[in-house]
Amino acid sequence: MAARHFLTLNDMSTGELEQLLDHASKLRNEWRQGKIRDSLKNRVLAMIFEKSSTRTRVSFEAGMTQLGGSALFLSPRDTQLGRGEPIEDSAIVISSMVDAVMIRTFAHDTVERFAAASRVPVINALTDDFHPCQLLADMQTYREHRGSIRGATVAWIGDGNNMCHSYINAATRFDFHLNVACPEGYEPSEALMNEHGDRVTIVRDPAEAAKGANLLVTDVWASMGQEDEQKAREKAFRDYQINPGLMAVADKDALFMHCLPAHRGEEISVDMMEHPGSVVWDEAENRLHAQKALLEFLILNRLD
Ligand code: CP
Ligand code: NVA
Repeated sequence: MAARHFLTLNDMSTGELEQLLDHASKLRNEWRQGKIRDSLKNRVLAMIFEKSSTRTRVSFEAGMTQLGGSALFLSPRDTQLGRGEPIEDSAIVISSMVDAVMIRTFAHDTVERFAAASRVPVINALTDDFHPCQLLADMQTYREHRGSIRGATVAWIGDGNNMCHSYINAATRFDFHLNVACPEGYEPSEALMNEHGDRVTIVRDPAEAAKGANLLVTDVWASMGQEDEQKAREKAFRDYQINPGLMAVADKDALFMHCLPAHRGEEISVDMMEHPGSVVWDEAENRLHAQKALLEFLILNRLD
């Protein structure tokens, strides 16, 4: 049987995603009660990081250990990946030795090529185009605080980047409407908009996007790989900040999320992380639980 991959949210059905999130909450509760679970005993996850990470690395590595398995950290600096060994050759070799592979890289095409040559499940842990693992944690967090997100309005404030793209996919998968407020020239991908146009509205004014919204989300103005654009982006995104004033135009029970790391004073005000609607720390912790559920699903084909 061909391995099941998780390169975007489109790799799972709505039903599977909902079951996975229920399972993730169950895993969180069991873990908090100190229950031992060794569902991935002796299993190995290879983790390829071509970009920096705190949350993704710690959550995958701790998650594998907590489920009785282990994780290998591979960076291009000290593997042959950084010396030009073809992606496909690396995929054949690595996937012949481990049970799953997680990749954080630049071009989305890299994870697709790796997956096509891999005999074990491949997980996209962020590319320039998508960050689906973060959406699992965000959707789990929304459900835990507010119940189903179906029919809700989500406001994305800022760059039409990898996180925004995964929110666009999520809008279709989880059945909510996404308002994107971004400056001209920083819109999400046109191809993705053509596919999900009925779910997404693009506006220029953050207050228009946030009006009555149930969830406000943002991300850094300059993503990894765009460090040279920091100054230009600071200028372009000056008016695109989530702050208590913007939260005030949203629904009274609106939540605030940010995948982190956050730049206080840029995309969020200095006081935003402590706002009563902020669930950023639960969101970060849920990376662990959602990905443990994902690893069990992909490696063991189980969702309970
Ligand atoms: N949100 C997220 O993916 O964080 P890291 O870059 O620290 O992994
Ligand atoms: N858009 C950000 C997300 C970091 C988790 C980046 O790609 O750097």
